[in-house]
Amino acid sequence: MIRRFSLTDLKRVVEIDQQSFKVPHDEWVFRYYYFLNPKNFFVYEADQQVVGFVLFEREGHLLYLAVDALYRRRGIGRRLVAEARKHLKKGTHPWAEVRRSNLAAQRFYQSLGFVRERVIPNYYGNEDAYIMVTSQKVRNSG
Ligand SMILES: CC(C)(COP(=O)(O)OP(=O)(O)OC[C@H]1O[C@@H](n2cnc3c(N)ncnc32)[C@H](O)[C@@H]1OP(=O)(O)O)[C@@H](O)C(=O)NCCC(=O)NCCS
Repeated sequence: MIRRFSLTDLKRVVEIDQQSFKVPHDEWVFRYYYFLNPKNFFVYEADQQVVGFVLFEREGHLLYLAVDALYRRRGIGRRLVAEARKHLKKGTHPWAEVRRSNLAAQRFYQSLGFVRERVIPNYYGNEDAYIMVTSQKVRNSG
C-alpha cells in the first residue's frame, strides 16, 4: 500500500535510508523536505510497516528513493516511482541522480526507461553522479 508520509514514519524511513545509502541522510533532511512539501513524500507499507519511500519535486526531480533490503526486487521501487509520476507537473521529464558506483539503481532506472543523460563530476565529493532521465513525459498530473 502506498500512502503519504507522516512524521510517525520517520524512524523507519531513517532506518531504511541508513541501510540504503553510502552516506545516509540526517533525520533533519526528511523533516525539512516534509515541512517544505508534505505532499511530495510517499511511503510503501507492507507487513504493517514502512518498507520504502520516495521524495520528489513536482518539477520532475526524484530526490530520494529507497526500499528496505529485505523487500527489494518485488516491484516496490517501480510502484513508488509510478506514484511519484502521478504528482509531477504535466510535461515534465522525471529525472534522478545516481552514484557512478550504484549499478543496482542504474539498472533499476534503466528498467523504467531512464537513460544516463550526463555526468556531474564529483557530485558526491569523491564520486561522480549520473543524471538519469526518462523521455516519457508526465501526461496527467494529480
Ligand atoms: C534502487 C531500488 C530503490 C530499487 O528498488 P526495488 O524495489 O528493488 O526495485 P523493483 O523491484 O521495483 O525493480 C524493478 C526492476 O529494476 C531492475 N532492478 C532493480 N534492482 C536491481 C538490481 N539490484 N540489479 C539489477 N536490476 C535491478 C530490475 O529490472 C527490476 O525488475 P525485475 O526484478 O523484474 O528484474 C533499491 O535497490 C534501493 O533501495 N537501493 C538503495 C537506495 C538507492 O540506490 N536508491 C536510488 C538511488 S537515488
